[in-house]
Amino acid sequence: MMHNLQERIDRSVTHTVKAIFPNTTNHYDTLFGGTALAWMDEIAFITATRFSRQKMVTVSSDRVDFKKPVPAGTLAELIGTVKSVGTTSLVIRVEVYLEQMYADEREKAMEGLFTMVAIDDNKHPVPISFDNN
Ligand SMILES: CC(C)(COP(=O)(O)OP(=O)(O)OC[C@H]1O[C@@H](n2cnc3c(N)ncnc32)[C@H](O)[C@@H]1OP(=O)(O)O)[C@@H](O)C(=O)NCCC(=O)NCCS
Repeated sequence: MMHNLQERIDRSVTHTVKAIFPNTTNHYDTLFGGTALAWMDEIAFITATRFSRQKMVTVSSDRVDFKKPVPAGTLAELIGTVKSVGTTSLVIRVEVYLEQMYADEREKAMEGLFTMVAIDDNKHPVPISFDNN
């Protein structure tokens, strides 16, 4: 069972890379926080869905730290990882790395935790049932 759990966690780790184009920045020419939060919530949703293959919704976003500004003209890599499995919920850690386009430089810019709940067709919480998949 533990082996299966770790395997599902590993398989559901999700990466996506975004270019910081002008439509994603604020008037300081850095990534707008609201856009970053939407991207983080989306990757948390995708990670939870790939882990469980169940309908998932966000019930909570825990503290999100914006450690570094992400300037226009850079890349942002988002990584979603299942941190823990509850009865009906999953906690997903989302990390965002700032990457230069024209140099091999990469550093962590943001981090946050998102709790996602599995729901049924009536939108009620149901147990995470990854073992049955
Ligand atoms: C998600 C939802 C169905 C949960 O219903 P609920 O009656 O609050 O559920 P419960 O109290 O039984 O909690 C369900 C799980 O969520 C966890 N949870 C509930 N509120 C939480 C919170 N604020 N923070 C962290 N975890 C929370 C519970 O600990 C429980 O986890 P567990 O079963 O693994 O122990 C309901 O809150 C809801 O529909 N929320 C709106 C979701 C939404 O629209 N999201 C945005 C768009 S995706």
